[in-house]
Amino acid sequence: MTEYVKLIHGDKEYQLPLIVGSEGEKAIDISALREETGFITLDTGYANTGSCVSAITYLNGEKGILRYRGIPVEQLAEQATFKETAFLLINGRLPNRNELTQFSVLLNDHSLVHEDMRAFYENFPRSSHPMGILSSMVNALRSFYPELHNLEEEINITVTRLLSKVRTLAAMSYKISRGHKVVYPRPDLAYCSNFLNMMFHSPVRPYDIDEDVVRALRVFWILHADHEQNCSTSAVRLVGSARVTLYAAISAGIAALWGPLHGGANQAVVEMLTHIAENKNMRQTVERAKDKKDPFRLMGFGHRIYKTYDPRAKIMKKIADKVLAKFNISDPLLDIAKELEEIALKDDYFIEHNLYPNVDFYSGIVLRAIGIPTNMFTVIFAIGRLPGWIAQWKESMDDPNWKLCRPRQIYTGPAETNYVPIAER
Ligand code: CMC
Repeated sequence: MTEYVKLIHGDKEYQLPLIVGSEGEKAIDISALREETGFITLDTGYANTGSCVSAITYLNGEKGILRYRGIPVEQLAEQATFKETAFLLINGRLPNRNELTQFSVLLNDHSLVHEDMRAFYENFPRSSHPMGILSSMVNALRSFYPELHNLEEEINITVTRLLSKVRTLAAMSYKISRGHKVVYPRPDLAYCSNFLNMMFHSPVRPYDIDEDVVRALRVFWILHADHEQNCSTSAVRLVGSARVTLYAAISAGIAALWGPLHGGANQAVVEMLTHIAENKNMRQTVERAKDKKDPFRLMGFGHRIYKTYDPRAKIMKKIADKVLAKFNISDPLLDIAKELEEIALKDDYFIEHNLYPNVDFYSGIVLRAIGIPTNMFTVIFAIGRLPGWIAQWKESMDDPNWKLCRPRQIYTGPAETNYVPIAER
């Protein structure tokens, strides 16, 4: 039986249906609000707005819970492969052995990119950021792989192409930025090893695939695979709602993820830690972050949803310790990060604002340790988030209540005024 919430304005009373999610989260359904009352809601930054109902990811920011299709991210990080996680997010369940083999074969078959795309890369200025390049290249894929007539086949093949080719495109952009020969994907390597090989193999220095490095990257990608309606995912859903191609929607997601308040934070954290290492200014950095007049923020801290320790950050911190110990690396940035965390977690400002390390706080240290250059950090995040973006896009396309996303506004500009010819201004 539907429950209702009462909205009272003056002598009028309206009944708004209450929606309850499978974990007990409550929402007031306002879809008929404007029609019935003439009002809209105003929620800058959408902190109180549910943009959809979704069965993909459950996130509880108070308790620090993250689950994909019901499975805790901790279990997936410990036991699953990235490919299984991608299948789970996109198809709603874990694959059986046959399905996984089939999925692997398809990913292998689609892993090459059209040779003509290399010309694109070679013409980007060397200083271009790889996220800008990746966003453009993904959008350009449509021109190289024209639409098929059968819609179901077209969606399946586009999903597979994206999962497989984005990884190849990312490694290519790194190789070309260094002026090196592109390394092609290998059919005998699994998803993560293949990427590492494409990034680091060279004809004069064969890449030695280390299982701990593969594991670190696998866990990194699983932890990033989805995070419900974050900024880039909302961009994918919103742009996708105009019925653009999946390539264009993912390209928009990559552009959104690039921002330093979102996925770009992993690069910004390492830059901040490096700045602290060079200038020995940890205390001043914390003070700057607290200063209301200074726009600076402690990067890798705080989250719109988590008001406790980000569960992904806990795992990432352990992986950072493991990888550094394995390779006997003493990274001063890890020590600085741990000290900074300790200072911040004892500081009243951070306590009162519920600011804890988020996934990006330790992730850059992991990526540095496995040899990923700083400007590629957010690209690695994008490869990890791809299954989530695809799953969310697919869910929105399959939604029988689908609508073009088109928020409204409260206009605060001038009332009607007459045009003044230029000679009279
Ligand atoms: N350092 C200092 N103060 C902060 C920080 C921070 N990192 N984050 C939030 N605050 C303060 C902010 O100044 C505000 O203070 P007051 O209420 O006194 O004016 C209060 O906390 C609330 O901030 P907000 O901007 O309204 O909160 P939000 O939910 O919109 O912010 C955030 C979320 C992630 C944008 C923000 O915490 C931030 O800028 N963090 C640093 C960037 C970062 O690490 N981003 C990665 C996010 S996790 C990866 C991902 O999902 O992409």
